[in-house]
Amino acid sequence: MCGIVGAVAQRDVSPILLEGLKRLEYRGYDSAGLAIVDNENVIQRIRVLGKVNQLQQEHDNSPLSGGTGIAHTRWATHGKPSVSNAHPHICREKIALVHNGIIENHESLRQQQKQAGFEFKSETDTEVVVNGIYQALQINPDILEAVFETITRLEGAYALGVINSDDPKRLIAVRKGSPLVIGIGIGEYFIASDVFALLPVTQRFIFLEEGDVADIRRDSLVIYDKNRKVTERPINVSELSADVADKAGYRHYMLKEIFSQPDAIAESLKNRVDEDQVVISEFGQNAESVFSQVKAVKIVACGTSYHAGLIAAGWMEEIANISCHVEIASEFRYRKSVVTESTLFVCISQSGETADTLAALQKAKQEPYISTLAICNVAESTITRESELVFLTHAGPEIGVASTKAFTTQLVALFLLVIAIGRNNGVSKEDENIFVRQLESLPGRVNQLLLHKDEIEAMAKNFADKHHALFLGRGSFLPVAMEGALKLKEISYIHAEAYAAGELKHGPLALVDKDMPVVAVAPNNHLLEKLKSNLQEVQAREGKLFIFADKNSEVEASDSVVVLKISTIYDFMAPILYTVPLQLLAYYVAVIKGADIDQPRNLAKSVTVE
Ligand code: M6R
Repeated sequence: MCGIVGAVAQRDVSPILLEGLKRLEYRGYDSAGLAIVDNENVIQRIRVLGKVNQLQQEHDNSPLSGGTGIAHTRWATHGKPSVSNAHPHICREKIALVHNGIIENHESLRQQQKQAGFEFKSETDTEVVVNGIYQALQINPDILEAVFETITRLEGAYALGVINSDDPKRLIAVRKGSPLVIGIGIGEYFIASDVFALLPVTQRFIFLEEGDVADIRRDSLVIYDKNRKVTERPINVSELSADVADKAGYRHYMLKEIFSQPDAIAESLKNRVDEDQVVISEFGQNAESVFSQVKAVKIVACGTSYHAGLIAAGWMEEIANISCHVEIASEFRYRKSVVTESTLFVCISQSGETADTLAALQKAKQEPYISTLAICNVAESTITRESELVFLTHAGPEIGVASTKAFTTQLVALFLLVIAIGRNNGVSKEDENIFVRQLESLPGRVNQLLLHKDEIEAMAKNFADKHHALFLGRGSFLPVAMEGALKLKEISYIHAEAYAAGELKHGPLALVDKDMPVVAVAPNNHLLEKLKSNLQEVQAREGKLFIFADKNSEVEASDSVVVLKISTIYDFMAPILYTVPLQLLAYYVAVIKGADIDQPRNLAKSVTVE
């Protein structure tokens, strides 16, 4: 992971780099640094253990100034979070470099460089790259050639920003396996891991492609493709505004994002349904023809997006009568799998940059899938660019590391997909009209549910001193329970597990006692009575129950049972609605525990490493 920013300009670039880092902090936040070529052509550097705010403070105390610079916010892979492992890394005061990705062959390069007399100052995989560039410069003093020479020796994934004190008005950028964009200013250029970092300074971007190397000066930009041929890449004008990172008065981004779900869902439906019908062309020009041939669906994703896939698989089989299999991307990418005839490959990713999901997509493109479809929240991401069909969830930027509005909008997108595929498999026009109207009712339903926030906050007090929690659900609500458990562990650091309620007696019931809070999701469906029996098993072992139940489900509160009643909703839509109180529960538990909610320890928003 990690976020990188760089700039070549007439003006002092340090404020641009610091602001860019703040906007990239979702990618990693255990340490940060920046390096600038000053007016005497000396590389000056500041690095801190901690977040970008600490870097800002250090910088306020002893500011750096110069027209060429690079900066980095880190999520540690090789070497613990520390000042010496923080980027930029510098070789012999000449070359400074920032890196996002992993150099897989760093051990062998390190041995070679040690024999050549290099002393290593960090435990990172990155230092071999900056040393390699320095070595190559001794043979050919042109920084671009030195970078070309060095990257031929690298295995792995890397986005790089490189500056050289002997050529101070030049920045070299490399993209291979990790994202990198170039921002175009007037007489100035920038690089960053995403457009969001650069929105305060430009709306015009070039997305580098795999293997591209960019030679950037204030007044010129030359891009070389993976074969070192000069190439042109299109300029894209972003419609995002610079202030999307505002918390809008909420205490945390996560809370803002939970409360923005009604709007996010409405946005994701806008222009995607018309006269109670799904607009299939929103999945791509070819979608209608592809969907009419689909006989099976394979969904691949990670984390929360994987949970969305699990819910969608239930819908796909039940509504569209299409076999659907869901798999975790990090498993799928290394497994031999059999592709059945006319199977559509679907990958789901909020960021569109998750390394495992991207690798899974690349694998799928080599296999006989009928087509590939990405469900994604970031228009300019790698996954959207690599997929044949794309459906963008219009959730707006999600900043909190815990995914909330991205998840509920993914579910909306997946439901539209189920209807679209189902049209050829038994979903009648009347069914479709009902489904679409139910989807359109969701923003209002979520709004009503959000009014229960105080009850959920009160419920959260029961969890704050606990070390473990169990989440139970059945059918489509098992993945909802899984998502609730993931949210709780991710932001409150309470160990939480989700189980199919019917599995309780096959092992986890042994864990249940008065110290084990058990959360259950209980809509009023055909599995309700079965679920109630499972909950009896918990009560009989003194387990305390927290039940999110349909108001007609006849689940009543008692000393050992806390119930939040939810008004009745159409069964297929219920997984979307029931997710919301679980998000709020995790949020309020984390608030009580004083956790770093938007940036939980050890995590990052965009997981661009394997
Ligand atoms: O960007 P993606 O949807 O591909 O990310 C996948 C997971 O890393 C992500 O959903 C993660 O599980 C969330 N932070 C959980 O809240």
